Amino acid sequence: MKIGIMNGPNLDRLGKREPGIYGQQTLADILDMLRDHARSKGIVLLDYQSSSEGFLVDKIHAWTDEDVTGLLINAGALTHTSIALHDAIKASCLPAVELHLSHVHQREEFRHHSMIAPACVGLVSGFGAMSYQMAFEGLLTKIQQKDRT
Ligand code: DQA
Repeated sequence: MKIGIMNGPNLDRLGKREPGIYGQQTLADILDMLRDHARSKGIVLLDYQSSSEGFLVDKIHAWTDEDVTGLLINAGALTHTSIALHDAIKASCLPAVELHLSHVHQREEFRHHSMIAPACVGLVSGFGAMSYQMAFEGLLTKIQQKDRT
């Protein structure tokens, strides 16, 4: 099974970017941990980061054609604005979990709304790097539930 994990704008700056909010770990640190965890379950993790909305949309379509089974998405600030990402997730028909390092509902009001949440099967927010692990486990549960129905 292949799972695609997508990170949006500015997430390539993790470790340096506002560590009080986003933590000390780099994106590579987080993805290495997650990839090892996925491998131990026989799952291949594909990852992609871009700060460009169109590239992210294109990657969702490409992964869909490559038969990924599900998506994990930290869309960064595009979470709050991108109808295009919402539409790409819907078009993929893949189970997707939205995730955030920070607790977005405890922050500025403009972060309280997610454009992509209605296209996702679940949402994890506020657990730092652990949000990635939790979203991964949540996605697997949703995939297994779907397989049983
Ligand atoms: C974020 C939260 C977003 O509001 C913000 O724009 C980000 C990171 C998070 O992981 O906490 O870039 O998605």
